[in-house]
Amino acid sequence: MGEMALELNGVRARYGSVEVLHEVDLSLRRGSVLAVLGSNGAGKSTLLKVTAGLHPIASGSIRLDGRNVVGWSPDRLARRGVCLIPEGRGVFPHLTVRENLWMATHLGVTRKDAEAMAFERFARLGDRPNQLAGTLSGGEQQMLALARAVITKPSVLMVDELSMGLAPRLADSLYESVRQIAADGVSVLLVEQFARTVLGMADRAAIMVSGRVVIQGTPADVEAHLSSAYLGG
Ligand SMILES: Nc1ncnc2c1ncn2[C@@H]1O[C@H](COP(=O)(O)OP(=O)(O)OP(=O)(O)O)[C@@H](O)[C@H]1O
Ligand SMILES: [Mg+2]
Repeated sequence: MGEMALELNGVRARYGSVEVLHEVDLSLRRGSVLAVLGSNGAGKSTLLKVTAGLHPIASGSIRLDGRNVVGWSPDRLARRGVCLIPEGRGVFPHLTVRENLWMATHLGVTRKDAEAMAFERFARLGDRPNQLAGTLSGGEQQMLALARAVITKPSVLMVDELSMGLAPRLADSLYESVRQIAADGVSVLLVEQFARTVLGMADRAAIMVSGRVVIQGTPADVEAHLSSAYLGG
């Protein structure tokens, strides 16, 4: 196997006749964290949807472990380990913490093991297994979303705006959990709006402006370009 878990080359995507991703190139090294920053409407969520098979690609290629997966269904991609935590958390608010975890066991993990995996990583969830997910704090809901993802043993985990609406300290602690997930061998693609602090934990980073990747490199490279990129420079 090559060192890249995921490679996008020349990816274009449209809504109707409007192209919103223009020749996007990105690579995600195995077991690493790539953070893609971009403002409102830059195309970050579309990028993740295309990669998860939830929105059609207009042209270009997406390689998973070196294999072109263009045209694969979301189910087939999920079985190959592609997992997306969508914008706004993706937990079932009217189910308990425990029931939310059970819903993620369809890929072969027992309920008992699912709970053990989740509660070992996120003790706060273990303290409240029977609480309705909708009544958890924002940070706890994100923990639950991450826990659900981990249970499916993903190879590529994509997270859409993990830090949205959370206090910076809480966001940092969730990023720390993401780092641990990556250390266990999961390749992670995070997209964020203005969360500059994500650069502190990412291995590589990129900036998207209006559907294009304008820079990709080390977090330090990207940090240096951040202000000018957002100002359109
Ligand atoms: N279902 C849709 N139909 C038409 N246009 C869409 C649709 N979804 C997104 N778009 C447009 O595509 C572009 C990219 O949107 P996208 O949601 O990918 O951006 P984003 O970077 O995730 O933004 P945000 O930070 O606000 O979540 C925007 O111009 C948006 O208006
Ligand atoms: Mg978005």
